[in-house]
Amino acid sequence: MLEIGGIKMKNPVVLAPMAGVCNPAFRLIAKDFGAGLVCAEMVSDKGILLENEKSLKMLYVDEREKPLSLQIFGGERESLVAAAKYVDKNTNADIIDINMGCPVPKITKCDAGARWLLDPDKIYEMVAATVDAVQKPVTVKMRVGWDEDHIFAVENAQAVERAGGAAVAVHGRTRVQMYEGRANWDIIKQVKDNVSIPVIGNGDIATPHDAKHALEAYGVDGVMIGRGALGNPWMLYRTIKFLETGEIPQEPTPREKIDICMLHMDRLIDLKGEYVAVREMRKHTAWYLKGLPKTGSVRNEVNIKTTREEMRKLLYDYIEEVEAKPADKVS
Ligand SMILES: Cc1cc2nc3c(=O)[nH]c(=O)nc-3n(C[C@H](O)[C@H](O)[C@H](O)COP(=O)(O)O)c2cc1C
Repeated sequence: MLEIGGIKMKNPVVLAPMAGVCNPAFRLIAKDFGAGLVCAEMVSDKGILLENEKSLKMLYVDEREKPLSLQIFGGERESLVAAAKYVDKNTNADIIDINMGCPVPKITKCDAGARWLLDPDKIYEMVAATVDAVQKPVTVKMRVGWDEDHIFAVENAQAVERAGGAAVAVHGRTRVQMYEGRANWDIIKQVKDNVSIPVIGNGDIATPHDAKHALEAYGVDGVMIGRGALGNPWMLYRTIKFLETGEIPQEPTPREKIDICMLHMDRLIDLKGEYVAVREMRKHTAWYLKGLPKTGSVRNEVNIKTTREEMRKLLYDYIEEVEAKPADKVS
């Protein structure tokens, strides 16, 4: 059972934090599909402290999403701790997560994200200061190392544990790898074998079988799924059912996929208004369409639609075409 700082998850399947994706609209869908824990997209510590409107909006948590982990990033102790205090007092997130994996130069140049991976002492100091300042459990999400010559995953996770961190999520790639190559689960196992706080394994979980294998072969306490859930929250549901019953539910039908895509869009419209939501939904819609037959022209047309009604008509016209010729599976 995955338990973090006294918070018990109903299953070990965790939706990964993803910038530009994990807002309440998608997180609620992940919850509808059973995720034990959902993670919010990263928020800048400075953005919170400067009361940047966009950053503050990113702190909104719907009661139905709980338990939820809210991630902040920063490179300096003072601002990181102050932002954590703000999240602690002013949000109903259950867990405060610190980003120690973001590989993007804009972030690492400010000594934030994956930059920390080079310095276990800094990790200890920053996490300890944060833990001391807040009531909510503090966790860290990290990569295994900076590059293949600087893999301090075990030392870094031990620093988190010593500092009072309640759990660690480990993405099995280095910063230099970005999203290339394969996640190294042997290193995730080394972390699991060397700390006693819960370890959530992350990287390349694309099927329910991958998730079961990760839990059994590497002994992690939870599995975190990112790209595998994009346009595919069924990945979460099918994984949870497989872990519970040993059986994998059917893949969704094309209509079911589009129905959920529309639910996602409607929730995003509630959150951000139609103008922004429809544009943001273009990428999500392409993900929902992945794997469906004959999506060439619908995928292109999604990118020029500007209203909910145009999107709805395009998608359901497409579904009617697919349903009229179900045997024709050529993409
Ligand atoms: C679009 C996108 C945005 C991401 N944003 C974040 C983020 O805000 N915070 C974070 O810790 N990781 C972020 N990640 C990394 C994921 O949480 C995860 O570690 C990575 O995708 C590997 O898991 P996967 O193979 O299941 O996708 C992001 C990944 C993607 C694809």
